[in-house]
Amino acid sequence: MTFQRSEPGVLEPIETASRDEISALQLQRLQWSITHTYSNVAHFREKCDNLGVHPRDLTKLSDLAKFPFTTKVDLRDNYPFGLFAVPREQVVRVHASSGTTGKPVVVGYTAQDIDTWANLMARSMRAAGARAGDICHISYGYGMFTGGLGAHYGAERLGCMVVPVSGGQTEKQVQLILDFKPDIIMVTPSYSLVIAEEFERLGIPPEEISLRIGMFGAEPWGEAMRGEIEKKLGIHAIDIYGLTEVIGPGVASECIESKDGPVIWEDHFYPEIINPDTGEVLSDGEQGELVFTSLSKQAMPVIRYRTRDLTRLLPPTSRSFRRMDRLTGRSDDMLIIRGVNLFPTQIEEQILRDKRLSGNYQIVVTRDAHLDNLEVRCELQRDASAQMQVADLSLISKQLQYHFKTVIGISTRVTVLPFDSIPRTLAGKARRVIDERPKMT
Ligand code: DLL
Repeated sequence: MTFQRSEPGVLEPIETASRDEISALQLQRLQWSITHTYSNVAHFREKCDNLGVHPRDLTKLSDLAKFPFTTKVDLRDNYPFGLFAVPREQVVRVHASSGTTGKPVVVGYTAQDIDTWANLMARSMRAAGARAGDICHISYGYGMFTGGLGAHYGAERLGCMVVPVSGGQTEKQVQLILDFKPDIIMVTPSYSLVIAEEFERLGIPPEEISLRIGMFGAEPWGEAMRGEIEKKLGIHAIDIYGLTEVIGPGVASECIESKDGPVIWEDHFYPEIINPDTGEVLSDGEQGELVFTSLSKQAMPVIRYRTRDLTRLLPPTSRSFRRMDRLTGRSDDMLIIRGVNLFPTQIEEQILRDKRLSGNYQIVVTRDAHLDNLEVRCELQRDASAQMQVADLSLISKQLQYHFKTVIGISTRVTVLPFDSIPRTLAGKARRVIDERPKMT
């Protein structure tokens, strides 16, 4: 694999191509991707055969609607490597993201996929105003999460000097920013405000912070938060979107000149908006669930992957590709806590392992000093309540806290209550999630 540096500020021809040129490239790549997946992934082939649809039925872009959707359930059922479309030996990297239960969803990349991803991240960074020679401080987590390594390869590809800090250790982050004087920071929006507060605490005003640009994503944020980050750090705050199943960060990213929503890199990911209840494809501008088909991925192509993110497609502005609006929510119950994806069922799974607890629980999410806090309230079984001492309760909550941290990777406060303390609705079902965080606008 070669690591060529891109010219600073020079756009790729496809970024300014006509709609006809883009559609022609998309159709050609879509036909390749569907055929590649059908030929090499038994699970997809079976789903197509059951629907009576074949890759040769795809003669125009709208024919994609005939093909089956892919969901997290497909990834879970084929855990870990069942959806790979190339021999395992050709996969050079895996990443993972939360599944709805203990098993994560796993994705794989060939060397060429890593190359494509690095190029797309470099393109995203260029759109954000980054240039070769810049210093790039990366505070997205490194590891199975795609944020750190995705940003890292893109920044190197653009020709930046990378500072691979990963998340946490706020004082050290601030010290490195003061010492190395980076131009770019890549971090979750909520953590950027924690970093900003540390600067405030040290009495360092925004004009003395070297940073010029920040690229923020992995969790919902809005225009109010953009304003706050820009003011506190004295930077341009750019929105970057992506998800593990599709490639990682860099599926779509905003341009600094317009800051009007992430541009979808449509030459590699074909977007659709569907009605989440019926699966019907909606027109551009209509609100619904975002669905992506990968057009060039080799190791793990995804056909009509249901992101569960709710948004709408917007017309092109700074580039020839369409943009996406801010996300308004999700069509499932996934929560994003400090950038970590969490399904209530993952919490439930751990609670059900303790026979002293009833399966009834509540997750309460609050935001304090820009950071999300999670409390899990659970209750004892009816017959366990009477015999329990305070010390037993504290032990149960410590054990659960430990499992949440070591299995799911999330810090929580756990409260164990007597039997029947958590309200049930008339149907006998508890309200599982109480999200008290301010709504993003
Ligand atoms: O969060 C990839 C990423 C890393 C994107 C760094 C941007 C920056 P996952 O962990 O699979 O991947 O989570 C994907 O996070 O479906 C959205 O719900 C949410 N999300 C990602 N970017 C944004 C954004 C990474 N810019 C899920 N705004 C997605 C709002 C976002 N939500």
